[in-house]
Amino acid sequence: MKCVDDFRLKLGNKELVPIVVGGMGVNISTAELALEAARLGGIGHISDAMIQDVADKRFNTTFVKDKTKFYKLNIPKTDKSIVQFDLGLVAEATELHVAATMAAKRGDGMIFVNCMEKLTMNAPRETLRVRMASALDAGIDGITLSAGLHLGSFALIEDHPRFRDAQLGIIVSSVRALQIFLKKNAKHDRLPDFIVVEGPLAGGHLGFGMDWAQYDLATIIADIRQYLEAEHLTIPLIAAGGIFTGTDAVGFLENGSAAIQVATRFTAASECGLPDSVKQEYLKASEEDIEVNTISPTGYPMRMLKSSPSIGSGIRPGCESYGYLLDSKGNCAYITAYNRELALHPGISLKNVSVPDKTCLCTHMSNFNCWTCGQYAYRLKDTTLRQADGSYQILSAEHIFKDYQFSVDNKIALPAPLTSS
Ligand SMILES: Cc1cc2nc3c(=O)[nH]c(=O)nc-3n(C[C@H](O)[C@H](O)[C@H](O)COP(=O)(O)O)c2cc1C
Repeated sequence: MKCVDDFRLKLGNKELVPIVVGGMGVNISTAELALEAARLGGIGHISDAMIQDVADKRFNTTFVKDKTKFYKLNIPKTDKSIVQFDLGLVAEATELHVAATMAAKRGDGMIFVNCMEKLTMNAPRETLRVRMASALDAGIDGITLSAGLHLGSFALIEDHPRFRDAQLGIIVSSVRALQIFLKKNAKHDRLPDFIVVEGPLAGGHLGFGMDWAQYDLATIIADIRQYLEAEHLTIPLIAAGGIFTGTDAVGFLENGSAAIQVATRFTAASECGLPDSVKQEYLKASEEDIEVNTISPTGYPMRMLKSSPSIGSGIRPGCESYGYLLDSKGNCAYITAYNRELALHPGISLKNVSVPDKTCLCTHMSNFNCWTCGQYAYRLKDTTLRQADGSYQILSAEHIFKDYQFSVDNKIALPAPLTSS
């Protein structure tokens, strides 16, 4: 019986354990988590979502405080179009996060940065160019582009000296999205080095509508393989979304995927950036506690725990501090929804405002109050031990990684019980 370790992912000049720990913004996939995946011979992701906030927490910088101060007078205003990012500071924060991570890298694996194009930052092209270029400058092994893929993103960095040597990949959820991307990028003579095919059971934003349940990952991968074969293109496919055991992974590897990308199981790892109390929420979730909703201002459905504090919250838009979802005209669907609620309830005290249909994703992701997860988060409790106090034992990333790598027969290895000292 085969296990994941019987396969290898060839990428550039490397042969890797075919396990990719997916990007989880905002700093849920920490440098520590990505470093473990790389040390063990796979691929780990950090994320550049809300990079200035992440840098402040990691390096005690003051990017967010300084931006808030600079735009202070705009806070009561509904028009956020003047709130811009200083590109030099975006580069500085990115370089800090990436360079420190790469300097700590050990082992034969790789570390990529997850760049969500929907973080339009009131200047989509300019900010994305700086985000990608400064990650490359700071030595990242590769970039995984997700959530968006509409900007001709490769063109933004085609003059970068590392454009052809870094691993550049994309996340798609349909053969159509892949076709559009390849068509737009055809003139750069630069194919993606890998394609993550993400199905409807994934965590984070979904590349599907609310009819997500009608799709399945294996069929999408088969469609994409057929298309690539017809076009005589050889690009490694990485299957993602709902791969919960080593046996699930082997199923995809035997059917032509070159690797698998996983995330939800690593939310129970000590290296994951979620606070311990939130990890316990994930661990104790049951199937009924998980929903796909449309509260993300990006317009993409998102899966999360129904108990996420972000749901129904009417917090004041935090654009002067953050503003990562402002489009090129300074709009965000949350600002519109929030202002509608204020207009509907004249005189309401700000602390009583509730916005049912959208959320201030920046503020809530920064505070770990949007508990996004994959569909199988409700199985996390089967991956660990329950403690005498009712809480669940937190795992090491190494334990989870090796369970994916070596397990057979749909088994999940439980951790050794903690011994009290
Ligand atoms: C907590 C969490 C946060 C995520 N955040 C992002 C993100 O910021 N960008 C992204 O491209 N994918 C994100 N994802 C998707 C994962 O990278 C991954 O592709 C997917 O969740 C794999 O499916 P699984 O969680 O069932 O293993 C997130 C997933 C989780 C569970």
